Amino acid sequence: MNCNIVTIPGDGIGPEIVREACKVLDKVGEVYGHTFQYTKILMGGCSIDEYGVPLTDEALETAKKSDAVLLGAVGGNVGNSKWYDVAPNLRPEAGLLAIRKGLNLFANLRPAYLYNELADACPLKKENIGDGFDMIIVRELTGGLYFGERHTEEADGVLQATDTLTYNENEIRRIAIKAFDIAMKRRKHVISVDKANVLDSSRLWRKVVEEVAKDYPEVKLEHMLVDNCAMQLVMNPGQFDVVLTENMFGDILSDEASMITGSIGMLSSASLNETKFGMYEPSHGSAPDIAGKDLANPIATVLSAAMMLRYSFDMDKEADAIEAAVQQVLTDGYRTGDIYSEGCKKVGTIEMGDLIAARI
Ligand code: NAI
Ligand code: MG
Repeated sequence: MNCNIVTIPGDGIGPEIVREACKVLDKVGEVYGHTFQYTKILMGGCSIDEYGVPLTDEALETAKKSDAVLLGAVGGNVGNSKWYDVAPNLRPEAGLLAIRKGLNLFANLRPAYLYNELADACPLKKENIGDGFDMIIVRELTGGLYFGERHTEEADGVLQATDTLTYNENEIRRIAIKAFDIAMKRRKHVISVDKANVLDSSRLWRKVVEEVAKDYPEVKLEHMLVDNCAMQLVMNPGQFDVVLTENMFGDILSDEASMITGSIGMLSSASLNETKFGMYEPSHGSAPDIAGKDLANPIATVLSAAMMLRYSFDMDKEADAIEAAVQQVLTDGYRTGDIYSEGCKKVGTIEMGDLIAARI
């Protein structure tokens, strides 16, 4: 297969980690007979330096024409960088919002997986983890409270602020379909999280999710209230496979789930639209404190590239091969600084990429 990938190395450690992910992809191409073609575009601080804006229209158009986007990270040292002495819409992160919106990426996927080898970094007790922790949160990304109407007003000397949580059935249906499609590639269990005991938007959410579930008789569907879900995540995280939820609940629950896995340097993510197209990126930022020092953990980006193969190119066995290679490197005792513990072999960004590629 011939795949046209746009890469956005971005700022800070971005170029270093994207380089390693491409190295691993190239090895996959070699072994499985695919061609990955890369077109690089600028976004974030590097685009501001070159063009005065965090994302040009041309760059966005190039991304739109690709099969998938692989992103490193954007942004600099927030307290101490020329990029932040300007209006918010000209800062590096504005590029991120513009590309998400421009590509209509309404589905945010965040897997959280605890490797046995990193179990000591998990803040939960071993007996709570049980047989392991391997879940994915499917979060609605372009609706709900963060995009609803908002205003602040004063009445009789009292300030009042309003935010609005709105979902229509089409928005719920398309994210639910994503979650069930993903469940079919996993353990076929969806837990839909809402607050249906209080919110109308959640009652509609439940109704539409039930309708979508009828098309997936193999997938088991359960509903869970969001406050209970927050509790279950620390009491019995092993019960979760696919969690389907709206924008704000997903924001909070995905941060909670990510901490169970130990390091931010391991966490991948995908943002999808209605087609096979997606943008894939690590969950962490541009880590300016360690940029250019060969210290960054490239695994989150490498695993994001595996998600790209799985969700944009239907290359399940190739994605499995990347995940297995990462697992093998950890089993073999190699660690970047962020996941290092005594007795392991400490390696840099480039060597970690080499080690993973060699195991494909
Ligand atoms: P950060 O995720 O960049 O860094 C937090 C801490 O984790 C730092 O100590 C960093 O060294 C470490 N870290 C992050 N990724 C790592 C990796 N792969 N390997 C080893 N250590 C790693 O978050 P921070 O410091 O809040 O933000 C730095 C910049 O990144 C800011 O400009 C921020 O706006 C931007 N940012 C960009 C994101 C994106 O492009 N999607 C997401 C989050 C932040
Ligand atoms: Mg958040």
